[in-house]
Amino acid sequence: MAIRKIELYGSPVLREKAQPIQEITPEIQTLLDDMVETMRHAQGAGIAANQVGVSLRALVVDVGAHGDKEELVFLINPEWVHQEGSALVEEGCLSIPKIYEKVPRPEKVRVRALDRHGKPFELEGEDFLCKALCHEVDHLDGILFLDRLTPLKRDVVKRKIKKLIREGEWDDPYPT
Ligand code: NI
Repeated sequence: MAIRKIELYGSPVLREKAQPIQEITPEIQTLLDDMVETMRHAQGAGIAANQVGVSLRALVVDVGAHGDKEELVFLINPEWVHQEGSALVEEGCLSIPKIYEKVPRPEKVRVRALDRHGKPFELEGEDFLCKALCHEVDHLDGILFLDRLTPLKRDVVKRKIKKLIREGEWDDPYPT
């Protein structure tokens, strides 16, 4: 396994619509393992493949992130089955270091995907899992949580980001 470089806000790959995975090859398995290692190293609770520069539809969520035990869920080619309700929940993103904002999301979601062995499954998420699934699936469509803020709020956050960059806070956010 290897820690890969996390693409930061401004990187074009974060804005691409990631491509479906046709076949789960050893390269894909390596990608998934590296995503886990990269996520752990950066102390994240989820990561999408395009955040490590690979424009493919794969993501990992650590469902145990709010407890003390790691519990990884891999989703390949995820698709929404159902979404309901609405909630305002605080989010951060490994690609947007040091920014945390409340984002409107559904309350409950159901997603269909392939697991890391290519087996189809469905997963229902509420609370933390709902937020993580919404956030990571958005990544695969080139959407960042900033896009879901009001234009006014987004402008404020963009100014904060510029300041962080100017002050060197984004130079090496996850030193190895
Ligand atoms: Ni993110």
